[in-house]
Amino acid sequence: MRSQVRRRVMAGNWKMYKTQAETRDFFPVFLPLILDATHCDVVIAPPFTSIAAAVQATEGSRVAIAGQNNHWQKEGAFTGEVSSQMLVAVGCTYVIVGHSERRQYSGETDGMVAQKSRAALECGLTPIVCLGENFTERETGRTQEILSQQFIGGPGSLTPEEFSRILLAYEPVWAIGTGRTATPDIAAAAHRFLRQCVQDQFSAEAAASVRILYGGSVKPDNSQGLMAQQELDGALVGGASLDAKSFAAIVNCK
Ligand code: 13P
Repeated sequence: MRSQVRRRVMAGNWKMYKTQAETRDFFPVFLPLILDATHCDVVIAPPFTSIAAAVQATEGSRVAIAGQNNHWQKEGAFTGEVSSQMLVAVGCTYVIVGHSERRQYSGETDGMVAQKSRAALECGLTPIVCLGENFTERETGRTQEILSQQFIGGPGSLTPEEFSRILLAYEPVWAIGTGRTATPDIAAAAHRFLRQCVQDQFSAEAAASVRILYGGSVKPDNSQGLMAQQELDGALVGGASLDAKSFAAIVNCK
């Protein structure tokens, strides 16, 4: 049976899509479609410029808004960056940390992931910390080595108290934006391994209660099978979260 204590989280990562106007158009279609989805938390991460519009459009609803990135400093001479405090001030309650696209294109390291997670937690944001192996790493049998390395250098270096307030997202890089979803079994095996890492680093209780989302080509037609795995506590959805009907179909899957 699915754990009663781990409430499901369905999160949409809009990446570099949707202007303010497109954001304002999305929610009046999306919100009525998820009124019955009381079994899960729903989060949307718009680009920075659309966060205020998203916060306004979701006021009074159950949808929480996330940043897609944060800096580890409160303020300073960091051109192009946004701090956790700024995200809180605009109305965010979550932030995505360590997405593979940021690791790949912006040189984000495990150490930065840990610093950003801490900065987010200090001002009350819930970090959704992403990790996952790439295609070559999986093909050469290094998946567990990579996950363990990313875990230990990133979320595994938090204190137990800090760790109890984060979410993890397993996002195999080979499945992101490729249409090559991990099978439910492959995803569940990786989640089990991550839970083992949590147990080794922290405790059996921490392993049993941490929520781990799966991300990588989650679509309405495969979400049911993925969510049937009790190891999967939700999804982090890219492309399919851009369309209100398709993301609602994923959110609504029981
Ligand atoms: P896709 O759902 O488009 O594969 O993206 C997944 C992702 O990167 C979510 O953060």
